[in-house]
Amino acid sequence: MQPSRLALDLGAPPEVPEEAIAAAAALLRGGWLHRYGETLGDSSDAALLEEEFAAALGARYCVGVNSCGSAMFLALLGSGVRPGDRVLMNGFTLSPVPGAIAHAGAEPVIVEVTQDLVIDLDDLARQARASGARHLLLSHMRGHIADMDRLMTLCDELGMSVIEDCAHTMGARWAGRPTGRFGRAGCFSLQSYKHVNAGEGGLLVTDDEDLAARAILASGSYMLYGQHRARPSKEVFARWKDLTPNFSLRLSSLAAAVARPQLRLLAERARVWSDRHARLAALLGAIPGIRLPHRPQQEEHVQSSIQFAAPGLDPERFRRFLAGCRARGVFLKWFGAEAAEGYTSAPRHWRYLRDARTPPHTEAILATLCDMRIPLSLPAEACGSIAAIVAEELEAAQRP
Ligand SMILES: Cc1ncc(COP(=O)(O)O)c(C=O)c1O
Repeated sequence: MQPSRLALDLGAPPEVPEEAIAAAAALLRGGWLHRYGETLGDSSDAALLEEEFAAALGARYCVGVNSCGSAMFLALLGSGVRPGDRVLMNGFTLSPVPGAIAHAGAEPVIVEVTQDLVIDLDDLARQARASGARHLLLSHMRGHIADMDRLMTLCDELGMSVIEDCAHTMGARWAGRPTGRFGRAGCFSLQSYKHVNAGEGGLLVTDDEDLAARAILASGSYMLYGQHRARPSKEVFARWKDLTPNFSLRLSSLAAAVARPQLRLLAERARVWSDRHARLAALLGAIPGIRLPHRPQQEEHVQSSIQFAAPGLDPERFRRFLAGCRARGVFLKWFGAEAAEGYTSAPRHWRYLRDARTPPHTEAILATLCDMRIPLSLPAEACGSIAAIVAEELEAAQRP
């Protein structure tokens, strides 16, 4: 018999392991919570986390900051974005992406996405030519990775620099290469709902020595940038140190201490998430009236959420479907909602933009798109109960 209600919190963040709790407690006892110190040297947890993350991704440099949003802002600045510039971005993402562009004083230009929830490369080419934009902030939103070979070839042809938003793709790859290693810089999040839960934090990886030095200085290193380990040479800092404002966006050593042991758990976490996602995808995909995005073979995703479309429902029935699922503990989010809700929003909600509009194809796709978090703690057996609730509530919403 199927349950009438799911007795699980789908919003539960990944558990913080004992090793991380012990590391945080040790740090608290010593008081070294700020990552720099006149007598500290280069062994702060923040410096060590950066070194470990750079090594894990095969990147030359890594800069820790207080959020992925800050990492994206600094990556844009370091790529040469100036106030008034136009920056392309895909229309399926979350508000910190246009926010990072606005933070740099630039103007987002929204590009369409495909039914499979990745940036539409034909529209990207069109919008690049029409806008003259030289920068793309590409969001691998909800873990959906575009064909990165085609995308990078296109961006090279267009002379466009790419920054990757990897808030949802830590540990994910395209054709064997980690996301964040295609563009000029990759930006990751350590916020609680991400693959590593440090509460807050961001990591920027790059092989570009000028971008790295500028990001370290702008993040608020003062003249203590020598305490970074995954950093460029002091000669590079000499070029930028008097030309770079301090925006004080530092990564706290406390967050880094909580994150470091979790980095070592990423492969195991990816295994669990992939298993739960595969089960849910098979079950939900078999429900009449539900469509899942196609995932290409080159994509090795680490899905901490699942997206599906219910294309047959008009907005009124959609609201009924969501309410029915939520009442039974299956908390679905909807990208087609009239107003922004929780973490979820769409370009038409960002009314500070000059052109706050979701482009038409993306609007149609988001109108029927549902999103569900997959907590790491989700037992495999619960996937069947979730799918049963979704199927029953969809059927109920379809009734006249
Ligand atoms: C797609 C996407 N990009 C970037 C971010 C920004 O991450 P942070 O909260 O660390 O700034 C988020 C946060 O939820 C996100 O969902």
